[in-house]
Amino acid sequence: MRELIEKIVEEGEVLSEHVLKVDRFLNHQVDPVLMKRIGETFAKTFQNESVTKVLTLESSGISPALMTAYALRVPLLIARKRKSLTLQNDLYTAKVYSFTKQEEIEISVSRSLLHEDDHVVIIDDFLANGQAALGLTEIVKQANAKVAGIGIVIEKAFQDGGTLLRNRGFRVVSLARIASLQGGKVQFAEEVVC
Ligand code: G4P
Ligand code: NA
Ligand code: NA
Repeated sequence: MRELIEKIVEEGEVLSEHVLKVDRFLNHQVDPVLMKRIGETFAKTFQNESVTKVLTLESSGISPALMTAYALRVPLLIARKRKSLTLQNDLYTAKVYSFTKQEEIEISVSRSLLHEDDHVVIIDDFLANGQAALGLTEIVKQANAKVAGIGIVIEKAFQDGGTLLRNRGFRVVSLARIASLQGGKVQFAEEVVC
């Protein structure tokens, strides 16, 4: 997506070979005009999937996910994160291990908000090792609902998440794919949509 790539070039900061900081428009300060365009692009991408719900994980996924849900005119469901959870029968839960943070968290969604007739688009800001997105697909599976697709704002294609999810048969659409952050420079992989 052209506007997003331009924004990353202009305002993204390469923190290391593995981390791109996008606090000026996505993770801390949010550009609402760009988010609206991102939402419209995801909505168009998944328009033939009879989507009934958008699912994301708090907190940085919420901005693009909300605009996607708005464009599709369906509810946004925000999975919650907790360090550890006592067993709660009214929740779907999945464990998510973060390689970056080296910690395991539990994510959860109320059973009352996800049903077997739901067609769910999963949206997140970053795709690195894919553990967050995978955990969200597990929650959808527990509800016997369908994953209509996974929309990612920025995929770090040099990490394993994209391959992991695509090998499992999920349709993953990323609006910007980064091939490398080496030498303090953002190098993009081929553009996928719009
Ligand atoms: P994974 O889910 O793909 O396996 O990723 P990982 O555990 O490595 O990511 C941990 C957190 O770091 C996630 O945010 C993720 O969005 C974020 N992240 C991963 N790579 C980058 C990057 O290059 N730049 C930035 N800015 N963030 C990155 P989180 O812990 O879920 O927190 P939140 O920001 O959503 O609240
Ligand atoms: Na995130
Ligand atoms: Na994040």
